[in-house]
Amino acid sequence: MGKKKIVIANWKMSLTLRESIQLAKEVSAESANVKNVDVVLCPSFTALPSVGPLLPQTVALGAQDVFWEEKGAYTGAIAPRLLTEMGCRYVLIGHSERRQYFQETDAMVNKKVLAALRAGLIPVLCVGENNDERRNGQKDYVVMRQVAEAIRGVTLLGTQELIVAYEPVWVIGTGQAVSGDDAEHMSQVIRHTITDIIPPVTMESRCRVLYGGSVDAKNVADFTHRNVIDGVLVGGSSLKSSSFFGILSRVR
Ligand code: PGA
Repeated sequence: MGKKKIVIANWKMSLTLRESIQLAKEVSAESANVKNVDVVLCPSFTALPSVGPLLPQTVALGAQDVFWEEKGAYTGAIAPRLLTEMGCRYVLIGHSERRQYFQETDAMVNKKVLAALRAGLIPVLCVGENNDERRNGQKDYVVMRQVAEAIRGVTLLGTQELIVAYEPVWVIGTGQAVSGDDAEHMSQVIRHTITDIIPPVTMESRCRVLYGGSVDAKNVADFTHRNVIDGVLVGGSSLKSSSFFGILSRVR
């Protein structure tokens, strides 16, 4: 708790290579004005080798997905070491769009988390309930299950770190985030679930819990001023430097 806040931009499949380079240049130019916030950009795989070298020390590179095997006959897949080779420090894992459109299961997400940690990447594990699960009163249960299954076997040795982002599926991309109180409650649920598996001292020093889902310049401070919310994962509002900087300048 009380850690340095982090803002992660998830560009999804929204930008061409040229647009990615342009946005990375704009973010890099302005990032000198951003103090006390860790900034991470997650472009498409194809933009990683061009975006990485443009970033200053204060802005880190992340990928949007990873495969769990290290090498071999896995057509189309990207191994963790191929990401570290590109300069990635972070990788999103188990984003709801991966779960929805690519049928990723909790077991697959777990293999990805373990493989990312082995390779020295910081996994950004995404969890969150969908509309039906929320309506049926299952949101805490769903998130607890997703976290517990994803971090099965994780110990966080040496310098390994873990980030968990609570992203309620039903608000992603809608422009309507959940309330700060709601996000805080789920952050506590996630923290309790993590400490069933990872010792509390390790969790305090090596884990961060974020909120994601329609974060913008207007609502960001309502999440980040809370001790138990260590930052935000941003989709739509990270695609223009003006809206992204609106967020960065309001992080508390
Ligand atoms: P959004 O996306 O900010 O556009 O809601 C967040 C995400 O999917 O990570």
